[in-house]
Amino acid sequence: MRVVNVSHKLHNKYLAKDVYDNEGRLLLGRNVQLTPSLIDKLIESDVFIVYIEDQLSEGIEVKNVISDEQMIHSVRSVKHIMNNITKQDSGVPTMIREEDLALVGDIIKELIEALEENEGALYTVVELLGADMYTYKHCVNVAVLSILTCKSLSYDYELTKHIAMGALLHDIGKAAVKDNLIQKIEPLTDQEMKEVHNHVIYGYDAIKDDISLSGYTKQIVRLHHEKRDGSGYPLGLKETEIPDFVRIVTICDMFDAMSSTRAYKKSMPVYEVLDILMAESVFKLDPVILQMFTKNICVYPPGSGVKLDDGRFGLVVNYNKFSPTRPEIRVFEDNLGNMNVSHIDLQEERTLFIEKTVATEIIKEHYKL
Ligand SMILES: [Fe+2]
Repeated sequence: MRVVNVSHKLHNKYLAKDVYDNEGRLLLGRNVQLTPSLIDKLIESDVFIVYIEDQLSEGIEVKNVISDEQMIHSVRSVKHIMNNITKQDSGVPTMIREEDLALVGDIIKELIEALEENEGALYTVVELLGADMYTYKHCVNVAVLSILTCKSLSYDYELTKHIAMGALLHDIGKAAVKDNLIQKIEPLTDQEMKEVHNHVIYGYDAIKDDISLSGYTKQIVRLHHEKRDGSGYPLGLKETEIPDFVRIVTICDMFDAMSSTRAYKKSMPVYEVLDILMAESVFKLDPVILQMFTKNICVYPPGSGVKLDDGRFGLVVNYNKFSPTRPEIRVFEDNLGNMNVSHIDLQEERTLFIEKTVATEIIKEHYKL
């Protein structure tokens, strides 16, 4: 399977993964053949990216560290929790219901268990839900990334659980910020920016008196936008004033925000996101935690297109755990009208490099496949 942008060029193609609507309900199932009206349905539902199965990408599997089913289940639960907060008060959230907090604990427990079973796998950006579900899937992604980073830092189960709960709840205060501000495409005014920044205060106020949540969880909700150089908010803390457990979630939050597709922006390739985080770590982020974080990330996700520095194009087939920038590639070469397809493991071909990632449609067009 390979990842493609949704367009009418996908007519007659077969879906390789289930596609879900804005409510997290199944929109189109795997193996469905796309027709013009089904493609319109995807576009109307804000689904910008899907996975398809074709000859070009036969045999390539695309999966993340947790299964698609667990991801969907967790995202739906987060949506349910956030909707309940909003319902309690039309403005600032007052508290999270007790049964919803129990649900948060259950989601985290299940995620930690799944990651334990899947030990050694790299976090792979897989676009499963439409852009409208971003707020909820972002919470789950940040929790998963935080658990992986805690593991790399050899944190124990209890601490990992508290940090992951903070990661899952880090943006709950956004339930109190008007949707049109969260979704706004145009630059925000100073006043609007201040209101969006207030999500950390609203979130902290909603949970600060809850005795069932740990101080770790509460401080993550409150401080996840603080930066080492004092440029963050709400307190403008500096260096060691920001605890390590908060710094983990800050990095995971930024990574997911940049690597995800939103209603108003395309996702950024993972290697570019890691470059930006690396640059930010000079003054703003924790460089040691970033290094541990990066170890778990699949830089070139299977099913994505790449251009090699010798000019050839290819599809990523699989990653190499210990050499994330040197995956296995299915390389295409036009030899006087005959298409040569070869398999290259960049871990062995040390003189060959990936120049950039490209849309898989470009590879198809380039070789007239
Ligand atoms: Fe936030």
